[in-house]
Amino acid sequence: MTPVHDRTAWLQGGKAVCLQPPTRVDRIWRLVLLGPPGSGKGTQAELLAHSLGACALSTGDVFRAARGHPAPPGSAMAVAQEQMARGELVTDNSVLALIRERGRCLRCSGGFMLDGFPRTLAQAEAIDALLVAENLQLDAVVSYELPTPEIIARLSGRRTCPACKSVFHVETCPPKREAVCDRCGGALVQREDDRPEAIQVRLEAYQSATVPLAAHYQKKGLLFPISAAGLPAEILARTLDALAIRVLGL
Ligand code: AP5
Repeated sequence: MTPVHDRTAWLQGGKAVCLQPPTRVDRIWRLVLLGPPGSGKGTQAELLAHSLGACALSTGDVFRAARGHPAPPGSAMAVAQEQMARGELVTDNSVLALIRERGRCLRCSGGFMLDGFPRTLAQAEAIDALLVAENLQLDAVVSYELPTPEIIARLSGRRTCPACKSVFHVETCPPKREAVCDRCGGALVQREDDRPEAIQVRLEAYQSATVPLAAHYQKKGLLFPISAAGLPAEILARTLDALAIRVLGL
């Protein structure tokens, strides 16, 4: 569960400087992780970070981290947090401003994995343009697939640690002590957007806004659909196999 990078700078916003030197890697990986809410993108992002050395960057984590620093009412961040709590997507402009602010994370020599970004066609086109401008290329867009009943079970039982961002599940990945984080001892909570009414809104937003991205990346030959069923280690192995075969040609 120990992260490869502390992601402190990523979570603190544009001006923060990353103090963690990039992990030495044999190959720099630049990936996008797609998939419905609760399919396990965040879980896989942490596992992949260990295997590949690239930093896992989640836009959802940034918006949640900002909650600890109350934004002025009506400000873009305050509006973004309200949208997020309801399960709605945050506006493209707010998300893109955030990504541009942290452009140096995209240029990191350790690589990156984008978890939860892009999630609209406008965001995908903006990141395409940003990467072209930086002369960088994506290696793959891994699209995790899971049936809806399993998604709902994963989201309903998820518990997270607001302090260190560790993720647990009351049945499939319970903490050693009930409601206490194994990593830092913090009190585990249920995310506001894991309430049933917000889950429904998120699933609808995923269908209408994010599913079209699959076709966008399919046309570019970057889309790798992966089943997200089974144990996290099994899904990781499937992902690494797909990357080895289709990207490295092994
Ligand atoms: P975000 O935080 O990105 O949420 P999400 O995409 O909805 O994904 P989740 O974090 O809910 O799930 P996950 O797939 O990472 O699953 P996890 O690994 O935790 O975004 C939240 C909100 O922020 C959005 O709704 C939106 O409002 C806003 N936002 C963020 N980015 C945005 C953007 N670019 N544009 C607009 N708005 C944006 O796993 C889930 C549970 O399942 C856990 O309990 C875990 O322990 C368990 N689990 C994981 N793998 C397995 C397994 N293999 N078997 C059994 N259990 C498992």
